[in-house]
Order: sequence, then C-alpha cells, then structure tokens
Amino acid sequence: MRQLISADRQVVVVDSLTYAGSLANLESVAGASNFCFVQEDICHADAMRRVFAEFGVSQVIHLAAESHVDRSIDNGMPFIQTNVIGTANLLEAARLAWSKSGSTSHRFTHVSTDEVYGDLSEAEPGFTEKSPYRPSSPYSASKAASDHLVTAWGRTHQLPYVITNCSNNYGPFQFPEKLIPLTIARCLEGQSIPVYGNGQQIRDWIHVSDHARGVIMAHEKGLNGESYLLGSRNEQRNLDLVRRICDEMNDLLGRDDLHRLITFVEDRKGHDLRYAIDPTKAEAELGWAPEIDFSSGLRTTIEWYVNRFRGEAS
Ligand SMILES: NC(=O)c1ccc[n+]([C@@H]2O[C@H](COP(=O)([O-])OP(=O)(O)OC[C@H]3O[C@@H](n4cnc5c(N)ncnc54)[C@H](O)[C@@H]3O)[C@@H](O)[C@H]2O)c1
Repeated sequence: MRQLISADRQVVVVDSLTYAGSLANLESVAGASNFCFVQEDICHADAMRRVFAEFGVSQVIHLAAESHVDRSIDNGMPFIQTNVIGTANLLEAARLAWSKSGSTSHRFTHVSTDEVYGDLSEAEPGFTEKSPYRPSSPYSASKAASDHLVTAWGRTHQLPYVITNCSNNYGPFQFPEKLIPLTIARCLEGQSIPVYGNGQQIRDWIHVSDHARGVIMAHEKGLNGESYLLGSRNEQRNLDLVRRICDEMNDLLGRDDLHRLITFVEDRKGHDLRYAIDPTKAEAELGWAPEIDFSSGLRTTIEWYVNRFRGEAS
C-alpha cells in the first residue's frame, strides 16, 4: 500500500480490522489524496460489490486473510471463512464488475504463501512454481483452496489474474504473535521466548518491502494466469534466528543474559520442517530481486519494534 501510494496510484484499502489489523498502521498515509480506507469484511458479498461500484475498482491486490498457523490449529473455521469464502466473494465481485466494464485493463493479483507446498527435507531443492500443492495446516490448506479458486475463476470466467507465493516475511508493522516481533517483545519484557520442539525447523526469510515490491511487479508485469514465487534465498533455523535476535537485543540493551529466556515448548502439531523458495522465475521474468540483506534488515526491524513497544508502554 505504501509503495503504491508513493507511486501515485489511486489506492482503496479494504480491511475489516480483525485483531491483526490496526488503523495506527495507516497513519503515515492517512492524509494522502490518492488513498482511502474502507472498513469492510471481504466475506460480505454485497459490501464487496458496493466497493467495486463506488470506487470503480479496476485492479485488485488481495492480501486480506487469517494468517497465523497456530490460530488455525486452535480453530480452523475463521480461516475457511475469510481465506476461502472471502476470496470467492472477492473473485465474484471482480467478475461481476469487470464483465460489464468493457475495459481490458483489469487484473486480480492473489497474494499467497509458500506453505501451500507443504514441507521439504533438508536435501531437497527449493519450491518452484511447478511444485505440487501439499498443504499441512488448516491455514495453508485454506490458502491452497484460495489459490485454486483464483485459477478456476481465471480459466472458467477469463478473470485476468496472477498469483504470488512468498516465504516468511519480517519487517515493521507485524502483529506481535509472529516469531520475530514476539521474540523482541519477550526480550523487552524479560519473559520466556517459546521455541517449538528442538527449534531445528528452517524458514526462508524475506523483508516485507521486498515482498511488496515483488507483488507489485507481478501485478504490473506478470503474465496472465501465471504464479510467481518470491523468496530471498535466506534460510534460517528457528533456533538460530531466535539466538541471533537475543544477541542483537543484548547489544542494543547493554545486556548479556537474554539467551536464558529461550524455552523449548511442545512442538506445533503437523509442524513443517523446512520451507525454501527458488525465485528464479520471478527474477528472470519480472526483473525482480530482493534488495534488503538479512543482517541490516533484521537490525532495523529490531530497532523499529523496540521503539514501538517502548512508545506503547510509556
Ligand atoms: N506474513 C507472512 O510471512 C506471509 C508470507 C506469505 C504470504 N503472506 C500472505 O500475505 C497476506 C497478508 O499477510 P499478513 O502477515 O499481513 O497477515 P495478517 O494476519 O497480519 O493481516 C491480515 C489483514 O487482513 C485483514 N483481514 C482479515 N480477515 C479479513 C476479512 N474477512 N475481511 C477484510 N479484512 C480482513 C486483517 O484485519 C489484517 O489487516 C496474507 O494473505 C498471507 O497469507 C504472508
């Protein structure tokens, strides 16, 4: 959203503001003349049709989702509702609006995850656009279902689309249930830092602004009906990452004892061992490449959360 607004695009953000959304995250763009915000639930078909009609929406970048795997294990139903029913509603609203418009400049870009491909052993090469769908969690299954709905609306109704599947994001504005902000918050609070199982799971971390740039490039340059995998070739074991954040936090806070907060907890049910992305297609066909290296990205991210959490506390 920030990148599109800076590039002078007209942007309408539709978000129902669940626990994961916050108007405070929109503060920096609130006064922009090319931005407006609509608080609506993508599951409400009439509301989505109204948004398309009222704003003359000609392009969609669809990110709204339930996204936290642990919550999907506790209760998968909100994931089915938003990620499956909500995506179908949005596709239908786009189809109805665009089939009447006569314009050929429409596109529906669906933002999805590498988790739809299930997990990899350490020996296997990274996922590509040809990898089979093998989701493990209710979250990834609901995202896989949404990917299939998008391809079906494309094939059946000729809805113009692209799909992006990205690896784990880090950066500012994440809800602090996600691993990196959670670890930072626990360091500041002096509370235990939970690590699932033996902490040997591997994730492929990418900075959110590289992901966002990739999504916009896929939206603007991608070929109709194609998927693009976005990743940074930056695999990290969960335990190594948590230790590294403790190192950075020790440094920042002038301490040397934060590693003692690391606490191993019972492994997540159905926990995938490894995700890794081969982003060759996006690099070759979109001319996209990640720009933020992990060391500096992690450092600035940690500083951002420390300032935010201290601001909230004071
Ligand atoms: N975070 C990652 O590491 C990652 C990686 C790959 C792909 N993705 C995808 O990117 C998208 C955004 O992820 P995120 O981490 O920012 O998620 P998030 O859970 O932090 O935020 C989701 C946003 O969607 C909104 N929302 C939820 N249900 C809604 C509904 N029914 N109607 C309207 N708005 C609703 C929430 O209010 C919130 O603002 C998701 O589609 C996710 O699958 C995320």
